[in-house]
Amino acid sequence: MSTLLITGGTVVSATGRTQADVLVDGERIVALIAPGSEPFGPIMAERTIDASGRYVLPGGVDAHTHMEMPFGGTQAADTFETGTRAAAWGGTTTIVDFVVQYAGQNVMEQYELWHQKAAGNCAIDYGFHQILSDVQDESLQAMDALVAEGVTSFKLFMAYKGVFLSDDGQILRAFQKGAENGALMMMHAENGAVIDVLVQQALAANHTTPRWHGLTRPWQAEEEATHRAIMIADITGAPLYVVHVSAKQAVEQIAAARARGANVFGETCPQYLYLSLEEQLAAVSEQWGELEGAKWVCSTPLRSRHEGHQEELWRSLRTNQLQMVSTDHCPFCMKEQKELGRGDFSKIPNGIGSVEHRMDLMYQGVVDGQITLERFVEITSTTPARMFGMYGRKGVIAPGADADIVIYDPNGHTSLGVNRTHHMNMDYSAYEGFEIDGHVDLVISRGAVIVDESGYVGRAGHGRFIRRAPSQYLS
Ligand code: URP
Ligand code: ZN
Ligand code: ZN
Repeated sequence: MSTLLITGGTVVSATGRTQADVLVDGERIVALIAPGSEPFGPIMAERTIDASGRYVLPGGVDAHTHMEMPFGGTQAADTFETGTRAAAWGGTTTIVDFVVQYAGQNVMEQYELWHQKAAGNCAIDYGFHQILSDVQDESLQAMDALVAEGVTSFKLFMAYKGVFLSDDGQILRAFQKGAENGALMMMHAENGAVIDVLVQQALAANHTTPRWHGLTRPWQAEEEATHRAIMIADITGAPLYVVHVSAKQAVEQIAAARARGANVFGETCPQYLYLSLEEQLAAVSEQWGELEGAKWVCSTPLRSRHEGHQEELWRSLRTNQLQMVSTDHCPFCMKEQKELGRGDFSKIPNGIGSVEHRMDLMYQGVVDGQITLERFVEITSTTPARMFGMYGRKGVIAPGADADIVIYDPNGHTSLGVNRTHHMNMDYSAYEGFEIDGHVDLVISRGAVIVDESGYVGRAGHGRFIRRAPSQYLS
């Protein structure tokens, strides 16, 4: 087993920062040492990395990705190999990806299929959530089997009729099972029936461009569904985690539930913090014409900049009304993928890719004064690890934890975008031209340096499947 010593850096946790050297033995962190104190004599490590002037962070945990997911008449463009490599470039050392059950499919067969897709291909460690789109007796039994396998969270959808949607009765039954077996129930909270009619009406009126994606998914549809999900969770006693929250009114629903003591949690994503309906969904370009806005079609949609959603999302991250930030990485290329929606916005595959940029974009929130450095670590690493039963191994720099470490340079600089050679398998970037006042200098996954000054030095297959415990917010 090789040893590694990281010297001179500022180790940052969710609760503070300290000058400490970090000693790694094999795959684990074994000690944090006050600089200059050598209680057992000089520490001899096989490799020493000088992190002077830089932050030493726990590796990022992105708890919401869709690698190579079949969706929208095509398939998410990143494979587990390309997507986890891009994640590594951006300082994320763990992902939790969604196994998909579409209607009529067997849950356990899909679960095995996702293992086949991921095994031997990942640059970083990975876990799975399970999507349930067909809640019947067999799926409910599978929930027990999956919890025993370390898949301790399940996502249901209130939208996408005929693809993902479960009705309220099905949601109730799945939540009852979650209340019984300790799983965390995740919800895509949008009123699908309302949205489907608004979409049909817009198309009938010849409104076909991407901005209509946003206009036909109003915040009321998100607020209502969030409220309904919270009520069903209340009835069953299941804990609830609302994914990709974009509307300030949905945040208010989550905050109200939490204020009365309910186990309700929420994530938002960088796109909702930085991007908006007006600038992105309504964009027009020389290359793509009015299809340009398709680059930012995702659900829940980008919201109007003029309605105060972004301010509220940042505020809720500060006040813990929302607990964490994931990407909902679901990348599609413009060519042959987003293009499917030319002339009909409802056919644009829904999703934005940003697994590579989450750490940088959230660090920019520190620079901009939106969150503290400690809160940055908390919402990008520590809380995701705790929320999804990985804390102790992931989400912290402490003896016994996996040596998943990022050396981050606050004096560095990162230019985002496909023209600046991003590593995601996408022919465009949702963040083209964004400038970040910081830089991921070095990334370590379970003791192995996988990104350094020379670039990516990891390997497909290094990443291992993580059998997750139940959410540590519930135990
Ligand atoms: O637009 C999105 N969010 N695509 C991925 C699927 C989902 O709902 O998370
Ligand atoms: Zn969703
Ligand atoms: Zn998603």
